[in-house]
Parts: sequence; C-alpha cells; structure tokens
Amino acid sequence: MRKGKVIAVAGKGGTGKTAIAALLIREILKLKSKDKENEDICILAVDADADSNLPDALGISYDKTVGDIRESLLEDKHRDVTLDVGSQFEGKIAEIVEEEEYYDLLVMGRPEGPGCYCPVNHIIRMIIDTLTKNYDYTIIDCEAGLEHLSRRTTRDVDVMLVLLDTTLKSIRTALRLKKIAEEIDVDVKKLMNMANKIPEGAEEKVIAEAEKNNLEIADVIPFDTLIQEYDLKGMPIVDLPDDAPSVVCVRRIVERII
Ligand SMILES: Nc1ncnc2c1ncn2[C@@H]1O[C@H](COP(=O)(O)OP(=O)(O)OP(=O)(O)O)[C@@H](O)[C@H]1O
Ligand SMILES: [Mg+2]
Repeated sequence: MRKGKVIAVAGKGGTGKTAIAALLIREILKLKSKDKENEDICILAVDADADSNLPDALGISYDKTVGDIRESLLEDKHRDVTLDVGSQFEGKIAEIVEEEEYYDLLVMGRPEGPGCYCPVNHIIRMIIDTLTKNYDYTIIDCEAGLEHLSRRTTRDVDVMLVLLDTTLKSIRTALRLKKIAEEIDVDVKKLMNMANKIPEGAEEKVIAEAEKNNLEIADVIPFDTLIQEYDLKGMPIVDLPDDAPSVVCVRRIVERII
C-alpha cells in the first residue's frame, strides 16, 4: 500500500506556490537517494492552476490536460454511450498522466467552461482521489486564491501549505483560506502558513504582523535572488543548487512534514 499523502501549496497569487511546489518535489525526490527505505518513493505532481507553470518549474513538457480530455469527452458524439462518463474518463487517465523518469505529472488545465459540466467534474475529482492512492506523495500546485477550495478540486489534503509574502493582502488571503477550509467539506488535516520571499531582517516583522491578524507562521522561506534569476532566464527551479537559501529551507520543511 502506498502512503497516499497529499500536500497542497496554496495562497495568494504570486506568493511563490509554483516555485515552492517544485522545490518540495525536488527535496522529496532527494529522499529516494538518501536511504534504502525511501528508494521506491512514488510521486505525483499535480498542476491545478489553469495557467500551468509547474511543468516549466520542473523543466518538463506535457501533452494533454485533464481539461482537454473532459472537453473531448463532452464533444465526442460517437463515444460509447453504454459506458458511463466515469468509466470513459478512467480509460483516458493514462493519456494524461505524464510519466517522467522519477515521478508522474498531471496537468489540470482549463477549469470548466460555459454550460454545466458538474457531473463530469465530480467524476474527475473522484478519479483524482483514487489516483493519489497509487502514490506515496501527491504535491498539488494550487491556483491562486480560493477557487480550488470552493470548487473542491482539492480534497482530502494531508498538509496544506499556505504561502504569504510581505503583504497584508496575502495575510488576509491566508486567513480566508483557513476559514474556507474549516467551513466546506475539504478534509485538511494540517494547515501550515509559510512566509515566503522574506528579505533578511524582515522575518520578525512579518511574523508579528501575521500574529496581529491571528495567523501563526510555521516557517519563513527567505527571499532568494537565485529563484528570481532562474525565473528570469526561464531555467527550471528544480535545478537550483543544493545550498540555495530557499532549497535549504524547503529541505527543512520536507523533514517536518514527511
Ligand atoms: N523565495 C523566493 N525568493 C525570491 N523570489 C521568489 C521566491 N519565491 C518565488 N519567487 C518569485 O516570485 C514570483 C512568483 O512566484 P511563483 O510563480 O512561484 O508564484 P505563484 O504563487 O505560483 O504565482 P501564481 O499565483 O501566478 O501562480 C516569481 O517571479 C518567482 O521568481
Ligand atoms: Mg503558480
């Protein structure tokens, strides 16, 4: 039996979800080579943002998205109507799970378009819930804000890392995410607020500001000029050096949550 642990990275737009999700995947993969016990760790990376950036951060390409399959199923007039949509979708899942050397990738793509696709989306969620059980760790790069929670594309999360930066707006988004997670039927076992992109010397100030707003910060990820440099040049974030300040910090977070 695989562990089936789901780790989601959420937070306000631009707080660093994609960069940190990529580094989490990198550091969990590193565990494989560290000791025998972890050598067959199996990882699924999920890009749940319609504006898919995770493949770039991982330095990989992809072919089809879950959204593409959903559209083609809905448009296909010749599909086997004796099969229910769930079974038809299940048959296609292999087409969209990109198999990389060390992990698999699932790109969600466009959210539902006009018209009511609700039953299909419900089935997609069920299939993803089933799919995650085949992996030890599923890392989800969520879309900005709160939609993924209210649309419930994210379910049964073991650890939700909510990122915030040096803005009050991002603190408020983190507060709203916490509230929504408590209100709707998403089972978030552990929610950790992480301050990201924090310049040296500003750590205490950000923690104090968050605390003033009743938000506890679990860890602080430093502002890392290397992340900016890699992003500017379009280089994969996963290729950052082992001693990059952000990498060292994400390694510590992985040790905490795994
Ligand atoms: N620790 C960090 N230090 C410096 N820059 C960072 C750090 N983390 C992220 N960034 C930069 O912040 C910007 C936003 O990062 P990223 O795209 O990962 O955020 P996001 O939350 O995924 O954004 P979106 O909501 O648009 O998906 C990028 O320019 C990235 O280079
Ligand atoms: Mg992103």
